[in-house]
Amino acid sequence: MAKGTRFVCAKCGTAHSKWQGQCEGCGAWDTLAEEKPLSSGPSSKSLGNRRGKALHLTDLATQEAPPPRTLSGVAELDRVLGGGLVEASALLVGGDPGIGKSTLLLQAAARFARNGLKVIYVSGEEASAQVQMRAQRLGLTQSPVHLAAETNLRDILTTLEEEKPDLAIIDSIQTMWADNVEAAPGSVSQVRAAAHELTSFAKRKGIAIVMVGHVTKDGQIAGPRVVEHMVDTVLYFEGERGHQFRILRAVKNRFGPADEIGVFEMTGKGLAEVKNPSALFLSERGQPSPGSVVFAGIEGTRPVLCEFQALVAPSPHSQPRRTVVGWDGGRLAMILAVLEARCGVPFTGLDVYLNVAGGMRISEPAADLAVAAALISAREDAALPKDCVVFGEISLSGALRPVGQTENRLKEAQKLGFTSAIAPAQSKLGAGAALEIKQMADLAEFVTQVFGER
Ligand code: TYD
Ligand code: MG
Repeated sequence: MAKGTRFVCAKCGTAHSKWQGQCEGCGAWDTLAEEKPLSSGPSSKSLGNRRGKALHLTDLATQEAPPPRTLSGVAELDRVLGGGLVEASALLVGGDPGIGKSTLLLQAAARFARNGLKVIYVSGEEASAQVQMRAQRLGLTQSPVHLAAETNLRDILTTLEEEKPDLAIIDSIQTMWADNVEAAPGSVSQVRAAAHELTSFAKRKGIAIVMVGHVTKDGQIAGPRVVEHMVDTVLYFEGERGHQFRILRAVKNRFGPADEIGVFEMTGKGLAEVKNPSALFLSERGQPSPGSVVFAGIEGTRPVLCEFQALVAPSPHSQPRRTVVGWDGGRLAMILAVLEARCGVPFTGLDVYLNVAGGMRISEPAADLAVAAALISAREDAALPKDCVVFGEISLSGALRPVGQTENRLKEAQKLGFTSAIAPAQSKLGAGAALEIKQMADLAEFVTQVFGER
């Protein structure tokens, strides 16, 4: 074994001196891969006694202007970026294969090029002819984007150094090959080395670099987690097969708010912006039916309405099913427990299915009450009042806790034609929304008020 060889976990990046079945860092099984030392990487020798130079220390006050930004003109993209593309930054865009990453970035490249940036698009996955065909389909052949099909990182960096673009798109990081690393493209050490080279190049040369990253089955960007730590911004492009909606979500952003989303629709001519996502997510909603509840949510800085659907049925299994799409399974278990313990609504012996319509994914605790309402409504086979939105966090005691941005939620609901809302007591209602608002202190009160004495 070569000296300095280590075994690095593909999930969390923990290094081990010998191979073993389970990672000591994150406990995952069979994720360790051999990694030779990077010739350009940090040496494994200790620092020794040699003195370094003393650092120049400053205080926290700054006169520096905020980093210059360029807008693409696609509002959904610019908002997720935190108000446009920041120069000398590194971004990672992750998503399942076929979800539309290349399409999104080619369209973005064309927009930025039209707005005066010099843009180079490097495809490591497709031949130039394929990218050109996509550009034709998207009506972008006249855009001044420079294109190359290449996987050799050294050649790519040399080209970027000579051409001095403002923005370079690397599609994808898993196809890049750094010749100083003895491992196959796509392996942990190659992905890490390529991401490291590209990120430091972006900082050094003042170029914005966007890397595309594939996502593994369990929904993480393939390759070591350290890549996500290296870059300034991590965006996920999500969506369900069979749905037209695509959501670009900022999961990390050093230059803007995380959790901001942009909503797109995949059409025959590429991705189109969705300016009013609430209307889209609710468009398939029919008459009020048992198990269906509209949640007034907030994604990033924007209110988004969406529909929770629940189905409850007697279970033939000794262990009833709990199936969730678009919401956290652990949180569902908690709400079921609170319903049983605090409100006397048991779900024993019942299969429970919960789904967020339209392929949306919700992580806000403010959706607790909407989930609980959908579950009881499905169990009691009784629909909620027509045109009513619901929001609020549920605590383990069954109390309803007020949530942030109540006013924005209500305004969005009113804009979409809703006439009433159910919210926790002590919510800061603000002025403006002319909805009929029922405020409730706890879940038991909600159950009796909405579904009657039990
Ligand atoms: P692509 O951008 O290649 O996905 P990724 O880079 O994430 O793997 O998108 C592939 C899918 O998008 C493919 O199934 C076809 C579809 N598509 C459209 O529906 N309309 C279009 O205009 C384009 C270019 C692609
Ligand atoms: Mg692609």
